[in-house]
Amino acid sequence: MLTDKFDRDIKYVRLAVTDRCNLRCTYCMPEMMKFVNKDRLLSFEEMLRVVRILAENGVEKVRITGGEPFVRKGLMDFLTELVKIEGIKKVGITSNGVLLEEYLDQLINIGITDINLSLDATTQHKFFEITRRDDFDKVYSSLEQMITKGFKVKINMVVMEGKNTEEIVPLAKYALKWPVEVRFIEEMPFNGTGKEVSKSWNHLDIEKVLIDSFIGLEKVNSHKSNTAQIYKSSILKGSLGIIPAFSRTFCGTCDRLRITSLGEIRNCLYSESGLNVRDLLRSDLGDQDIADSIQGHLLLKKKSGWEEEKKNKNLDSMSMIGG
Ligand code: GTP
Ligand code: 5AD
Ligand code: SF4
Repeated sequence: MLTDKFDRDIKYVRLAVTDRCNLRCTYCMPEMMKFVNKDRLLSFEEMLRVVRILAENGVEKVRITGGEPFVRKGLMDFLTELVKIEGIKKVGITSNGVLLEEYLDQLINIGITDINLSLDATTQHKFFEITRRDDFDKVYSSLEQMITKGFKVKINMVVMEGKNTEEIVPLAKYALKWPVEVRFIEEMPFNGTGKEVSKSWNHLDIEKVLIDSFIGLEKVNSHKSNTAQIYKSSILKGSLGIIPAFSRTFCGTCDRLRITSLGEIRNCLYSESGLNVRDLLRSDLGDQDIADSIQGHLLLKKKSGWEEEKKNKNLDSMSMIGG
């Protein structure tokens, strides 16, 4: 079992399969984003090997992130192999939904039904303002199909002061008509430009808007490693959630590690650097040596050392880290 210095068992890995994306969300990357050369990314074979090593050491859940996972060619073949890895009980995907619709049946066939959809607006116009692309209709259509086909859907909206706070209630209303979890995320400074984010809209402001708008809304207990605080009401078919990603009230129970698209193992979203597992995979080290290196790196994971990490000035685009 992989554990850190604070006896937290590490069972959850977030794997960024590409840094590329077909949208240009302003909170994530500039329009002229510079992507890395393909040979610097992990190959799918390398990803399968590292997940096998992690699974042999207790990891049970993998979340596939990007960039946008579906822009990487061969993703479905990779996922088909990934779900077969012994010990991996759950594979989820975080996607912007633009290319998703045509893959839904294949995903069901291989047993992946857990999708977190990034969506920050409910109108074409607002969607364009935020993503700089005109793809709202495609995303909405993917969402409708996911609901019809019975996927377990969480919607992620990044809340940005002055840009989409008026969209909080319209998006939350998706949980009135559908059994989805609509989650509101505090904006973090991973926009690939070094630009500061406004800190005045936080989880408490979001909570107030939701409580004022939905009758009977109550906080419920959720699993301790869940990043979202969940809210339910009898008027909702689904639920609402708030992720205090910048205030980070959940660090103490963090049981996850991340593999960036460049093959770096990071103990925290806010870490500035990590263990270069890509070079280890390309060396002649055996699986056990690689597992030992990962375990060694995990001992550097901090309990709630994030105040220090948050001071890092050199923050990447979220598309490279994988969210
Ligand atoms: P599941 O629990 O598997 O549904 O995944 P998730 O909610 O962690 O994943 P998702 O990709 O939907 O991420 C939601 C948001 O939470 C993103 O903005 C992430 O960047 C943020 N987030 C996820 N993990 C962490 C973390 O360890 N620290 C912080 N600060 N934010 C995180
Ligand atoms: N702040 C908060 N969340 C972000 N995401 C991407 N960039 C940021 C940011 N700067 C979210 C996306 C996606 C998840 C993986 O990360 O909306 O849902
Ligand atoms: Fe693409 Fe996701 Fe970044 Fe938007 S947040 S540009 S969808 S990687």
